[in-house]
Amino acid sequence: MKILLLGSNGQVGWELQRSLSVLGELIALQRDSQVHAADFSKPESLAATVRAIRPDVIVNAAAHTAVDRAESEPELAHLLNAASPAVLAREAAQSGALLVHYSTDYVFDGSGSTPRDETAATAPLSVYGRTKLEGEQAIAASGCRHLIFRTSWVYAARGGNFAKTMLRLAAEREQLKVIDDQIGAPTGADLLADVTAHAIRGVHQHPETAGLYHCVADGETSWYTYARFVFEQAQAAGVELRLREVLPIATREYPTPAVRPLNSRLDTTRLQANFGLHIPDWRVGVARMLAEILPH
Ligand SMILES: NC(=O)c1ccc[n+]([C@@H]2O[C@H](COP(=O)([O-])OP(=O)(O)OC[C@H]3O[C@@H](n4cnc5c(N)ncnc54)[C@H](OP(=O)(O)O)[C@@H]3O)[C@@H](O)[C@H]2O)c1
Repeated sequence: MKILLLGSNGQVGWELQRSLSVLGELIALQRDSQVHAADFSKPESLAATVRAIRPDVIVNAAAHTAVDRAESEPELAHLLNAASPAVLAREAAQSGALLVHYSTDYVFDGSGSTPRDETAATAPLSVYGRTKLEGEQAIAASGCRHLIFRTSWVYAARGGNFAKTMLRLAAEREQLKVIDDQIGAPTGADLLADVTAHAIRGVHQHPETAGLYHCVADGETSWYTYARFVFEQAQAAGVELRLREVLPIATREYPTPAVRPLNSRLDTTRLQANFGLHIPDWRVGVARMLAEILPH
């Protein structure tokens, strides 16, 4: 099996380099790759890359993920999140390749308080959410065989993440205010990458399992309780924090350019049933990531 991985330097892309390497020959490209074009701001250039490599599987981990910045650069967000995935889908449909793509809870408006499944109505609140939904729709409309994983609150040990920001602030300040009314599941890039590898195998054995899936860690939390968990783990590991008080605040007290959904709960029943997977609680992955980044 020949696999083309695009966006290989991001949180998920980096972990995919590991998890996909055992499935077959892996060609991993990033934005500035020289031999083959892989810059998503030039969608049509990706067609030549797919035609030259002739992969059996295309995995797209590239995206415009700067949610607030997307509000002021909607054209670029559209190129990266919708137009380029559309070209990959067209090429996959023509060549028969399987296209794997990632999307987001931001395709929903976040109303209510129950988990949404894959059939729930979409209603994005932001440029990021709208362009990611356009990407999904272009892939579905192309008729290519595909796997789309909608995920949320992605973190990785490599690069910056919410936990690292909280730990830095907790070393500097005595008081922190953290949003307590957005509910979701922090999801490790490593979990997404492992699920992706399993699902690619699954689709090869059972082509009818291709399609759209919600893929997040189990359980739920707010950013506030997520931060509290991070501080507890850090203290248990002997890290000295200046922090004395963590206060829960409402989203409206922390305005940002992009509107974020309050309810990011996603139902993973379909994913677990179709691929025979067990999805671990979010604390398992976060504790593991912290064990990697905290001093021993
Ligand atoms: N992060 C989250 O919380 C989250 C939540 C829900 C869904 N998702 C989805 O999960 C997927 C993976 O996200 P992630 O967390 O791994 O994001 P990430 O760490 O921000 O990685 C995004 C990747 O896209 C690349 N990229 C940006 N502009 C590009 C361009 N013009 N051409 C080619 N590549 C470009 C980046 O390259 P550089 O390193 O060169 O900038 C980076 O490697 C995305 O589809 C995202 O929408 C993420």
